[in-house]
Amino acid sequence: AARWYHERVVDHYNNPRNVGSFDKNDPTVGTGLVGAPACGDVMKLQIKVDKETGKIADACFKTFGCGSAIASSSVATEWVKGKQMEEVLSIKNTEIAKHLSLPPVKLHCSMLAEDAIKAAIKDYEAKKGKIVQQNAEPVPVEKAADV
Ligand code: FES
Repeated sequence: AARWYHERVVDHYNNPRNVGSFDKNDPTVGTGLVGAPACGDVMKLQIKVDKETGKIADACFKTFGCGSAIASSSVATEWVKGKQMEEVLSIKNTEIAKHLSLPPVKLHCSMLAEDAIKAAIKDYEAKKGKIVQQNAEPVPVEKAADV
């Protein structure tokens, strides 16, 4: 039997937005790489953060998976662009699934996108932590008190 997909899935599958890769060593880039154990599909989603505003300036993905996973990651990259990280953390897979009218058996595909967003942010935060420590110059106590 032919499987019925919502036109948005077909659209994102045929014309996926923001396919690509950023340099994962770029300190402004966060990389989320997640897999779905049930089907073996893998999704990589990356964000590029504008250091001035703290907003996600750009996003891209590469997904080795089903049409729903490709569509979910394509939607996810569109939704995260231009947003603050806290806003993005509240994106739920159920919203993506609803937007694409995914059937229940395909919910895990949108879950992959939610997980990938969270993983990308976590990676960015972890990197930032490292860089801050590396660049931090110890401030003498007397000077610190002046400011
Ligand atoms: Fe596993 Fe879609 S079937 S991600």
